[in-house]
Amino acid sequence: MEKILITGSTGMLGRYVCQFAMEAGLNIFTPKRDQFDISNSSLMESYIDNLQPTAILHLAAETNVDLCERDPRHAGLYNHIATETIARKARQYNAWMLYISTSNVFGAEGKPYYNELDIPHSVNYYGRSKFHGENALRTWCGRNSMVIRAGWMIGGGVQHDHKFVGKIVQQVRDGVSDIRSVTDKYGTITNALKLARFIVRSLEERRLGTYHYTSSGLVNRFEIAREIAEVLSFKGTVSPVVSAEFPLSAPRPSFEGIESIYLPNEDSEWKPRYWREDLREYLKEFSDRD
Ligand SMILES: NC(=O)c1ccc[n+]([C@@H]2O[C@H](COP(=O)([O-])OP(=O)(O)OC[C@H]3O[C@@H](n4cnc5c(N)ncnc54)[C@H](OP(=O)(O)O)[C@@H]3O)[C@@H](O)[C@H]2O)c1
Repeated sequence: MEKILITGSTGMLGRYVCQFAMEAGLNIFTPKRDQFDISNSSLMESYIDNLQPTAILHLAAETNVDLCERDPRHAGLYNHIATETIARKARQYNAWMLYISTSNVFGAEGKPYYNELDIPHSVNYYGRSKFHGENALRTWCGRNSMVIRAGWMIGGGVQHDHKFVGKIVQQVRDGVSDIRSVTDKYGTITNALKLARFIVRSLEERRLGTYHYTSSGLVNRFEIAREIAEVLSFKGTVSPVVSAEFPLSAPRPSFEGIESIYLPNEDSEWKPRYWREDLREYLKEFSDRD
């Protein structure tokens, strides 16, 4: 009988994955932090030994990019070592394992886009720790695993979006007169809900290898904010600013766009589209409330 362990089930992506996995009638296990803590190898090992999963969707991570930069030991423990611990156990139980990585593994070369053939070289410790996590997975269960690299993820909706889109929507709702947003950092976005559909589909098919999953079209934060303002009929202004006005601990690359040369070319619900379409689809979660 199928037993699917999902880590990070309370996160932005994890909530959607659990929703679709349950809709598909899959037998999922979503341990709480006191049962499964990615900073505690022996706790994770004993949970997996007890469960003996047939598949593992490893979504939990330290996603705070600036914290990772200030504390590389923490980044290594949460994103690299934890993944290695889980991957060793996946191999022991012959479980298929999925790891979600990030476009942040790229950026140092200064190219606008990176595909699956490009060799990662990150500019910060978050990206490096995620890349070491990928490699741990490949080392321990390379023949029975999948890596999906996502771009800037959008999702969570009214209640759970505490990231960029959620903050801009909040500013619109608060009626601020001027929203300032950065123009000099470019990336590609990932609609978390659609990615979750792709994850569940890939789990069912036991897809193997490394895939980039993002909407098409390179975009900066200012363009995203301007699009949100238009959709929500914002009456104020959206002003372009440069990133130097918001000093952060971790360097961000000027460009971290990713594109795929391997994603299946089929027309389906999970297929990413042009960034504006995928963003507008997500924003319905906010306008539906009104
Ligand atoms: N967000 C993005 O823009 C983005 C982009 C590309 C790739 N990714 C990757 O996609 C995956 C999901 O990201 P997300 O944005 O959905 O993450 P998120 O919203 O920040 O959630 C992180 C998840 O990890 C769990 N977690 C954190 N520390 C833990 C610990 N010590 N033990 C057990 N669980 C712990 C959290 O649990 P609690 O709720 O208990 O804190 C939460 O469920 C991550 O691997 C991330 O690196 C994210």
